[in-house]
Amino acid sequence: MTDWLLYTGTRLPHDGIDRLPPPPPWRAFKGGPVLAPPEGGSGNDHQATTYRPSDDAVQQVNAALYLRRPLLVTGPPGTGKSTLAYAVAHELGLGPVLHWPITSRTTLRDGLYQYDPLTRLYAAGRDDDRATEDIGRYLRLGPLGTALLPHERPRVLLVDEIDKSDIDLPNDLLTIFEKGAYEIPELTRRADPSAEVMTADGPAGRVTVTEGTVVCRAFPLVVMTSNGEREFPPAFLRRCVTVELRQPADEDELAAIVREHLGPLAERSGDLVRRFLDRSAAGALATDQLLNAVYLCRHADAADRLELADRIMSRLTAPVDE
Ligand SMILES: Nc1ncnc2c1ncn2[C@@H]1O[C@H](COP(=O)(O)OP(=O)(O)OP(=O)(O)O)[C@@H](O)[C@H]1O
Ligand SMILES: [Mg+2]
Repeated sequence: MTDWLLYTGTRLPHDGIDRLPPPPPWRAFKGGPVLAPPEGGSGNDHQATTYRPSDDAVQQVNAALYLRRPLLVTGPPGTGKSTLAYAVAHELGLGPVLHWPITSRTTLRDGLYQYDPLTRLYAAGRDDDRATEDIGRYLRLGPLGTALLPHERPRVLLVDEIDKSDIDLPNDLLTIFEKGAYEIPELTRRADPSAEVMTADGPAGRVTVTEGTVVCRAFPLVVMTSNGEREFPPAFLRRCVTVELRQPADEDELAAIVREHLGPLAERSGDLVRRFLDRSAAGALATDQLLNAVYLCRHADAADRLELADRIMSRLTAPVDE
């Protein structure tokens, strides 16, 4: 039974998101006033329109949408974990993906908002009354803070490489995702706690935060990617929908991905696809290495084709049996 699938993986935009049923009662959020859907595409059109998801990935994306739960996407490098977020935003017309790349220094606050008190102080020193009064000019919501605004439709938030984070971040995130809300103390401390602040949607993105608190409406589709460099605690996993992506192991599937990305340039690349599969049997390779090899070999001298491809498709892990 496939009719429950809103995201289908067909790469053709449609308005299936309008069929998303109300959330389960324990995941209903009542923020407002409701914001209209954002303008613009996913922000990465080529990747979004060429991605061929596995059936598993399609199903788990839909489960995350229905259940209003974050989706934890694991798998080896280059299996399309990050691209999945763009593909969903494109097909379901959910606007630009809010991209939050994680490093060991990233804190929850970085994702929620940034406040720039120094520039404000500097403006105050120049006696610029408007500058000191209008605190919103110095507050910019981050990708997480923007995703949790009271949007009418879910935004797509890509929390990229969460396994690189400091040990506390996954749990901090869980708390926020449970509440679907956050406070901006720089606003709540003021006599007038409402302000028009900037968002992560570029220069035009401005929104009014009332009472210094943001409460979400449509829970975002949160795609958290991990290369498996970290084990997550059971309490974290319990609150996520999970999916593991794998390298396509079959020649037809790989050939289809090459055609999708390279169109006519993919002709007569069967030998490279087979070479990729042979080589990946002995040590990890990523799909985009094959894409690079096919592209380069189309433009390079035919004589050293396979030798050139081998150099582009160098193994990412130690060979298994050499
Ligand atoms: N199933 C697929 N269909 C089409 N293209 C794919 C697929 N899987 C991977 N690719 C392509 O491979 C490249 C790498 O994908 P992506 O960056 O999303 O991988 P990743 O899993 O996030 O890798 P990393 O762990 O290194 O961040 C992209 O160009 C993507 O379009
Ligand atoms: Mg990635």
